[in-house]
Amino acid sequence: MAGWTLDDIAWQRFDASQVDPEIVKVVKAAALVEYGGAGYARYLCRVFADDAEFQTRMERWGREEMQHGEALARWAVLADPEFDFAAAFARFQGGYRLAEDVDGSRRGSRCGEMVARCIVETGTSSHYTALLEATREPVLREICRRIAADELRHYRLFYKNLGMCLAREKLGRWARLKIALTRVAESEDDELAYAYYAANAGDATYDRRRWSRAYMGRACAIYRPHHLEHGIAMILKAVGLTPNGWLGRTLARLSWRAMRWRAGRLARDAA
Ligand SMILES: [Fe+2]
Ligand SMILES: [Fe+2]
Repeated sequence: MAGWTLDDIAWQRFDASQVDPEIVKVVKAAALVEYGGAGYARYLCRVFADDAEFQTRMERWGREEMQHGEALARWAVLADPEFDFAAAFARFQGGYRLAEDVDGSRRGSRCGEMVARCIVETGTSSHYTALLEATREPVLREICRRIAADELRHYRLFYKNLGMCLAREKLGRWARLKIALTRVAESEDDELAYAYYAANAGDATYDRRRWSRAYMGRACAIYRPHHLEHGIAMILKAVGLTPNGWLGRTLARLSWRAMRWRAGRLARDAA
């Protein structure tokens, strides 16, 4: 397990006066996605069916992701005592389910799976670091600090395994880059939008465009340039390119501009 449990969190330090209702919505959605992490672990155990050691690591990883969900859900209930996590999770699972029961890898290779996981752990590591810096509520700050450290460790776990996979099966930089870009684009697929809907929609019906834009508008608002710089360096490293060179700096600048433009447009549309 992670080096911490829910009992290690100083819940008594919760300060309702520091709660931002917009951040509560993002935390609720994150709790649902994290709690569903065990499904990814089962899927990866099937992809690495002949690797008992990696399967053991994946089972532990899946439990850690679930614990992230439990910690975020408990905080969300402190912030909003009417939040029914079990009902929201049932709603989320009822409308969105990972295609776990597939033979072989959805990414075409074990290397491809590891690149995709590096991208996801980059995203979560950046997300919780940004959330930590965006909130003043002390308990949420502690939770984000612990989760961000776990996500960085998860990235290193998958990056290390990517190196071992590359020694056995070849996957060039361009192929890795293509998988990385595909996985980045998938961050706008149904999973996050549906989690945001399931956690926050009340009786409203699901409209993918509407809820995706609602989630992205809230999530984009918490990022700052250094979060993107760090995230892009991690992505370049996973792809096999120099993490901190001119390419990384240029991509970070362009990504930041694109994110600001997008956040501005979403805010104007929501007004
Ligand atoms: Fe997580
Ligand atoms: Fe993770």
